[in-house]
Amino acid sequence: MEVKIKYLILFFAAVILSGLYACKKPDPVAITPPLPPVVTDTTTLKGVAAFKIGAAIDVYRLQTDPLYKNTLLNQQSSITIENAVKWPTVHPSQNSFDFSGGDYIADFCMANNKRLHGHCLIWYQANPDWLNKFTGDSLAWENLFKTHIQTVVAHYKGKATSWDVVNEAFHDGDGTLRVQDINASDNFDDGCIWARHLGADYIARAFLYAHEADPDALLFYNEYGQEWSDAKTASIINMVNDFKARRIPISGLGLQMHTDINASNDGIAKAIQKLAATGLLIHISELDISVNPSNDQALSYSADLQKKQADKYAFIATQYKTLVPKAQQYGITTWNVGDKDSWIRTYIMHKDWPLLFDDDYAKKSCYFSFRDAVKN
Ligand code: XIL
Repeated sequence: MEVKIKYLILFFAAVILSGLYACKKPDPVAITPPLPPVVTDTTTLKGVAAFKIGAAIDVYRLQTDPLYKNTLLNQQSSITIENAVKWPTVHPSQNSFDFSGGDYIADFCMANNKRLHGHCLIWYQANPDWLNKFTGDSLAWENLFKTHIQTVVAHYKGKATSWDVVNEAFHDGDGTLRVQDINASDNFDDGCIWARHLGADYIARAFLYAHEADPDALLFYNEYGQEWSDAKTASIINMVNDFKARRIPISGLGLQMHTDINASNDGIAKAIQKLAATGLLIHISELDISVNPSNDQALSYSADLQKKQADKYAFIATQYKTLVPKAQQYGITTWNVGDKDSWIRTYIMHKDWPLLFDDDYAKKSCYFSFRDAVKN
């Protein structure tokens, strides 16, 4: 009995409370707090540019140099992996892969909203010793090739937006496909093991395999020298036309543009125009502008050289912006960040100042001319 009364009291209390709640004065109209002001970033490269602005980066510098990292955070909207996923690093022996460097860069990109561009799956250069010494029939070579491409692409699926699938497949000069070493006396094999073991159509198969591993990735053919070799440009365009006819999945073309202050403006403009006419995405993928191509040890970085370099950076950016239709502008990437990071110093061993930032990551005059030229 007592329990029943308790329930009744509770029931009536609930009815009264809900009635009171229903009769209570309506809430005053909620005032939406003002939205934070839209901050337009008008001072950085990524803030002003009409397209993505990238840099190729080195893992060790990213891990150890806060100035390097801050420059990337502030200035770049796209990152290319300079070396960390090339064969010798990512695939150090036949049955092992080492993604540690690439993963560090990929995590940096994911955490900081940077587009990640993978470089490069197949190249005639930078092949590890074990690969150069590999013996096997054409099926074994094909398996190696396919496994490498698909393991690396699948590993970065959902992280890398795009890949340089094949790098530098055509000879300088006559623009023919690299197969045999054409200058045996210089101790450098400018032929290509892939063409030798897999035949000329290896490029198409590299694209097919990459596409199979990540159908969402944008796939690029990347090359240097289009601005001075009409023959190379013609070979690239032939290849694109052939790929289109055969429905080989190619999305874009990289013009590396390792150039110098004396390069022909006409050559640069023509190359951009011809490649843009393919309708594919166009990436200026490895830009740097040498001021000392002849490696004169007595040269200093004079005001005159700085001005010529600033003008060349502005010229290239302006041509890109005007000659490449907006929908095809994949962006402009410089080959690293500060002068001291440049492969021209560390690999070609030239005395030079080719990039937008100096050794302490201060903005150079070419930074400002480039920034004005890439403006939306
Ligand atoms: C260079 C790197 O910058 C160097 O650090 C490395 O030791 C050799 O390769 N074209 C390319 C890039 O496609 O991969 C090259 O990068 C520069 C030329």
